[in-house]
Amino acid sequence: MERLQKVIAAAGIASRRKSEDLIKQGKVKVNGNVVTELGVKVSPNDKVEVNEIPIQREEPVYFLLYKPRGVISSVTDDKGRKVVTDFFSNFKERIYPVGRLDYDTSGLLLMTNDGDFANLLMHPRSEIEKVYVAKVKGIPLRENIKKLERGVMLKDGKTAPAKVKVLSVDKQKHTSIIEIIIHEGRNRQVRRMFEAIGHEVLKLKRERYGKLTLHGLNAGEARELTPHEVKQLRVLAMDSKQKNS
Ligand code: URA
Repeated sequence: MERLQKVIAAAGIASRRKSEDLIKQGKVKVNGNVVTELGVKVSPNDKVEVNEIPIQREEPVYFLLYKPRGVISSVTDDKGRKVVTDFFSNFKERIYPVGRLDYDTSGLLLMTNDGDFANLLMHPRSEIEKVYVAKVKGIPLRENIKKLERGVMLKDGKTAPAKVKVLSVDKQKHTSIIEIIIHEGRNRQVRRMFEAIGHEVLKLKRERYGKLTLHGLNAGEARELTPHEVKQLRVLAMDSKQKNS
């Protein structure tokens, strides 16, 4: 048995809050009867309708996708470019990405149809570590690496402290490979952080998310998360959210 508002939200109709409003407004029926109380629980056999339309109940699913470069982190693209949901076209569930990676960024992207899970992971106070490997133009000075570690000022505020490691330097090509670990998820954050210290990012890949890695996957491949991995992510996100509230 699950709470009615959770079932409506899980079907992708609205957020949990909006689903509560729909119930209070008398727009929800269970087995043909209008329900306006929030405490009601329903089983998988109960017929739930919102605005007279039966909802499609979906089991939550969780995937880890190795997103290739040149793919949009979205469910549709008006310019007809490849989107991350194209890799899940065989699934009947309405799967969408948890956050986003830029069109040109490759790497680990979580995909789910569980809105609560996605919101929890994307919450600004959920500090889940994300490990990126960037190929940048030039060879950053030690003092600039320190700036990244301490936090740099971007137009949307100072970044939180990061862990940064120079993995290799190509003096001939004048490029460097740098690992950077952050827990924020601002738009184009890693690219903007390197720009702030004067180094353009030429290539970017997300290699780790929490404890999850791309191990065993090639670009364009996905695997289902184990129940343990889903739980571990929830715990990581909730612990850090509590710590920071
Ligand atoms: N930082 C970026 O700049 N781009 C991404 O896709 C992810 C993090």
